[in-house]
Amino acid sequence: KRVVLAYSGGLDTSIILKWLQTTYGCEVVTFTADLGQGEELEPARKKAELLGIKPENIYIEDLREEFVRDYVFPMFRANAQYEGLYLLGTSIARPLIAKKQIEIARKVGADAVSHGSTGKGNDQVRYELSYYALEPDIKVIAPWREWDLTSRTALLDFAEKNQIPIAKDKRGDAPFSVDANLLHASSEGKVLEDPAVEVPDYVYSRTIDPEDAPDIPTIVTVGFEKGDAVSIDGQAMSPATLLAKLNDLGRANGIGRLDLVENRFVGMKSRGMYETPGGTILYFAHRGIESITLDRGAAHLKDELMPKYAELIYNGFWFSPEREMLQVLIDKSQEHVTGTVRLKLYKGSAWVIGRESPNSLYDQDLVTFEEGAVAYDHRDAAGFIKLNALRLRTLAKRDRRAKGR
Ligand code: ARG
Ligand code: SIN
Repeated sequence: KRVVLAYSGGLDTSIILKWLQTTYGCEVVTFTADLGQGEELEPARKKAELLGIKPENIYIEDLREEFVRDYVFPMFRANAQYEGLYLLGTSIARPLIAKKQIEIARKVGADAVSHGSTGKGNDQVRYELSYYALEPDIKVIAPWREWDLTSRTALLDFAEKNQIPIAKDKRGDAPFSVDANLLHASSEGKVLEDPAVEVPDYVYSRTIDPEDAPDIPTIVTVGFEKGDAVSIDGQAMSPATLLAKLNDLGRANGIGRLDLVENRFVGMKSRGMYETPGGTILYFAHRGIESITLDRGAAHLKDELMPKYAELIYNGFWFSPEREMLQVLIDKSQEHVTGTVRLKLYKGSAWVIGRESPNSLYDQDLVTFEEGAVAYDHRDAAGFIKLNALRLRTLAKRDRRAKGR
């Protein structure tokens, strides 16, 4: 009957659009989201119209603010990294796209949704877990798992037969699978498939080569309120504007490149290249402000839970009770995470050089090696160490006895 397709306007989703019309004979409603991928959206409208979609069935939405405010920022409160390095730029965008598709499906009375992810990756899982979590009886059509267009040639033949315009660079060797939004750009496949071979220069799109970055460092100050970045160099900005600004600074200094072999949820290892310029700066800035505003117990607990939280997002469980439970815990930890962090950006690196907060727990009087606070008596440390050493001394004595025997 009616299906809502996550439509980028690119070749693959255009082929899917036509395939849905011809195979299922259903009415296709397209949804194109602006997540800050840096592409014009009007061409997607034109292309959808060209492929016979009625104007009232074409949905285009600017989701940049919602994406950063309700998805990226909550995730950055956790300092989430998958397998220690990946800032989850693709993973965090899928639930939002899925949610909008479901909303549109309800509005237009569609009984199905469709996406352009392959049957081998994580994205199919993320889309579909989100669909089902929000609309348990929705019908999902994943053309890549169904059709017999299994080679690039078969795809291009189908496109030609159905008068789908093919961009010149797609005719030959389509370079690789690229996904981009305000948080990151990712590339996988083709030249990247051999993990022994260095990523060629032309794959990078969001950052200049750190080796070509300026010889003079850039200093930037990021302001935080309750764990979220709210200003740059004293100037208040909306979430999406702020991330875009950090992206500019990151790009110019070659910050946020990552060449990673990761474990996909479906079981295989894959090699990808990620560029997360602004997100990388934000990550270090957030850890910087947390370092003076979080209590040790709170800080260590959230760090222990972080890998679990990151894995849930990577595996597509954004809309799950366990992710929401962890989010409540993480958000609670951010109550006093307010203040400013100064960072130095230089040739591919970002590091904190200063932090200040009205809620700071850092007590110079307490920590100083000079004559200091009355709250701390050196002599207390002797008993503290002795009691902590009690077990260790007992063990050492046992071992000495055992050796003696
Ligand atoms: N491997 C990354 C992830 O699973 C990036 C996936 C990129 N997606 C794409 N359609 N190119 O999050
Ligand atoms: C895809 O399979 O469509 C992209 C890669 C992934 O989802 O992991």
